[in-house]
Amino acid sequence: MGESSANGSPTSADAAGRALAARVADIAPFQVARVFERARQLERAGRRIVHWELGEPDFPSAPTVVAAGKAALDAGRTGYTETLGLPVLRQAIAERYPAAVDAGRVAVTTGASAALNLLAQTLIDPGDDVLLADPGYPCNQGFVRAAGGVPKRVPVDARTAFRLTLPALRAAWTPRTRVVLLASPANPTGALLAANEIRAIVEFAAAAGAVVVMDEIYQGLVYDERDPDPFARTALGLDDRVFVVNSFSKYFGMTGWRLGWLVAPPWAMDAIDRCAQNLYLAPPTVSQHAALAALEPPALAVHEARRRVLARRRDVFLRGMDALALPVAHRPQGAFYIYADISATGLPAQAFCGRLLEEFGVAAAPGTDFGSHRAEAHVRFAFTVDEADIRRGLERLGAACRAMIGSPR
Ligand SMILES: Cc1ncc(COP(=O)(O)O)c(C=O)c1O
Repeated sequence: MGESSANGSPTSADAAGRALAARVADIAPFQVARVFERARQLERAGRRIVHWELGEPDFPSAPTVVAAGKAALDAGRTGYTETLGLPVLRQAIAERYPAAVDAGRVAVTTGASAALNLLAQTLIDPGDDVLLADPGYPCNQGFVRAAGGVPKRVPVDARTAFRLTLPALRAAWTPRTRVVLLASPANPTGALLAANEIRAIVEFAAAAGAVVVMDEIYQGLVYDERDPDPFARTALGLDDRVFVVNSFSKYFGMTGWRLGWLVAPPWAMDAIDRCAQNLYLAPPTVSQHAALAALEPPALAVHEARRRVLARRRDVFLRGMDALALPVAHRPQGAFYIYADISATGLPAQAFCGRLLEEFGVAAAPGTDFGSHRAEAHVRFAFTVDEADIRRGLERLGAACRAMIGSPR
């Protein structure tokens, strides 16, 4: 029972207790959002903060993308589009993949977020188990729960280079497993899955009556290949049964335009269309016109140059970490995160991030945002800031380590 006010009417806490769905109690807040807000507060008070907490590069969208968005506005393209996106954009996305993809299998969505939510609504029944990596992208659990599913986190760590492997999936499999959610490159570790591993997982899942959703939002952001084609590394073409999610947010530098896509087997498209009609009506129109430009050579050249900048930043960061007492849990091959093992400091992740921000002016995401498996022993640093800030942050991190290692919890 909630408390009543002096006149006997229900308090707002009481009303909320009755009105809010029970399910929202299970939805965890982002600790990194709190870190970011506190960092902003400190900046307003005059502190110089190094921002390593956010999964968003510091680049604005490419000039031709911005121009295409402005042109769409000037031309009055402000109404709805088709639910699954502009046919010309679906076609342009389909044509980018190395193995021919039918444009009818592409759905344009409001970010990868909407693609993941649509797939959760389309594929998961109440009580179904969904296997996902721990650590992994935190919102996936929310999508699964919103569809009534049960997220089952499968621990991954340095022993498998943070890859969710078939043996680990087999061990976690239950009769209610309906969906396996993979990501490559992965957040927060930058781990990559090999083609043969993906193929084996899709085979196994199909034989067991389950499907695989592959999150490729960091596709294109890989660093150890010469002249990589940003669309080459994909689960599409390995097996037609896989569902692929992608986005214009990361490689294409368009986080705020809120645009992504999915590619699904043909048999699922009608159901996805019906869900999308009901949940979203259509993805953002101006953003779709801008995205057409993002797939054209002038913007692709900008994105590719930025990938090379990110590769350099990663190397500077990793060299700096080598010089510190904090081991990198996994050398990231993709995405833009360093997942560091902070157990030597003796502090749990949140306390470490708190001290790092308050005393040393560096904002970072605690491992506990990404799961529970050895989460207290890890933090995520995003190399989404320029090299000067990476070097500044490394100096401060070095000072923090010297101060913390051996200090009492
Ligand atoms: C692994 C992963 N998937 C999905 C998303 C959602 O991205 P968006 O909705 O901006 O496309 C993110 C964002 O950080 C992510 O890291």
